[in-house]
Amino acid sequence: MKQHHGRKRISRRVDDIEPQKIRVMFDLAAEYDGDLVHLELGEPDFDTPGHIVEAAHEAATAGATRYTPNAGLLELREAIAERLSEQTGQNVDPGSEVVVTNGGVEALHLAIHTVADPGEEVLIPTPAWPNPISQAKLAGAVPIEVSMPPEAGFEPDPDTIIDAIGQDTAAVSLTSPSNPTGRVFPPEAIERIVEAAAEHGAYVLADEVYRNLTYGETPARIRSVTDHDEWVLSVDSFSKTYAMTGWRVGWLSGPADVLGEVTKIHESTTSCVNAPAQHAAIAALTGSREPIEAMKDAFRSRRDFVVDRIGSIPHVSVAPPEGGFYAFLDVSALEGSSMEIAKRLLYDYQVVTAPGVAFGDGGEGHIRLSFANDRDRIATGLDRLESMIRTELGPA
Ligand SMILES: Cc1ncc(COP(=O)(O)O)c(C=O)c1O
Repeated sequence: MKQHHGRKRISRRVDDIEPQKIRVMFDLAAEYDGDLVHLELGEPDFDTPGHIVEAAHEAATAGATRYTPNAGLLELREAIAERLSEQTGQNVDPGSEVVVTNGGVEALHLAIHTVADPGEEVLIPTPAWPNPISQAKLAGAVPIEVSMPPEAGFEPDPDTIIDAIGQDTAAVSLTSPSNPTGRVFPPEAIERIVEAAAEHGAYVLADEVYRNLTYGETPARIRSVTDHDEWVLSVDSFSKTYAMTGWRVGWLSGPADVLGEVTKIHESTTSCVNAPAQHAAIAALTGSREPIEAMKDAFRSRRDFVVDRIGSIPHVSVAPPEGGFYAFLDVSALEGSSMEIAKRLLYDYQVVTAPGVAFGDGGEGHIRLSFANDRDRIATGLDRLESMIRTELGPA
């Protein structure tokens, strides 16, 4: 049989993609038989609020079971555009500047495929959620990790990012708040980075899926703190804010000339987003904010608990996350790589975490703990972590 790149008909592009390192821990945990505390989860532990589920049910019962327009239901795009216009003070056109996607993940995939040519670079400040790396590879582009300095909890460093922007840069991914570090990009840093990107004709991919889960003031939208918003592609999602990860609804918004092209890919890959789920998303945007605020309050109180509790454990530290539901814990005092540490935590202490290296080489020496779990389980997980630290390193 004819071999292709040494393998049986697997394209080079796909062959090049490595399995995510977070996945390794999921798989090991799935095989493990015991009372595990799950602190690796990247999704809210809450159920989708009832009025959102009800809206999908009603829509499906009333016959909303057919294809929708490729870019999404106009009513949903109008609700998204209205919100976005309020948040940015810009006039967002629902007809040409918003596309409804299968989660934030598809929005990023579409954006990268639309703006990056094979061989061009996609810059990714790390530690970062790894999907844009594989998405860039799938587009034939070259993902370039730009490591943020670990001091001060990986506070974004605009100079390092700007220095990495060059004539081959097609896009710069800015995730704010960040998964895993919880850092929010300050507006001055954003302004400088977008300006540098614009000078090089590169787009900024503004991933804001955790924007509503911030614990200080909600940060300004990235596109609203720059004079070059025509170079910003905004990505957001219903997944985290509304506890809707499994519904798969997100959106991409940006200039009409780019968004018009995006739908070409959407058409050949997914046609449109699940119709009842789009109705659920309309209810999420237009319905009661109460359940949303209650979830956010719960995340805030867990975050305070986690930060306090970690403060009482010797040899480890965490910069309090400004947003998202992760604590990126410095465990560099322990022996071994972050993967080895995560495996010891799993096998010897029954706590599942994500190793820092899953978020880029600069994430070594860290593990990510998610507080998308109930408070008692988080407390048990942190007790177990403390016993590992004290057993391996002794008292402070
Ligand atoms: C930073 C970041 N962006 C985007 C996503 C995509 O989520 P979804 O596709 O469910 O909207 C995630 C999910 O973990 C994320 O952490």
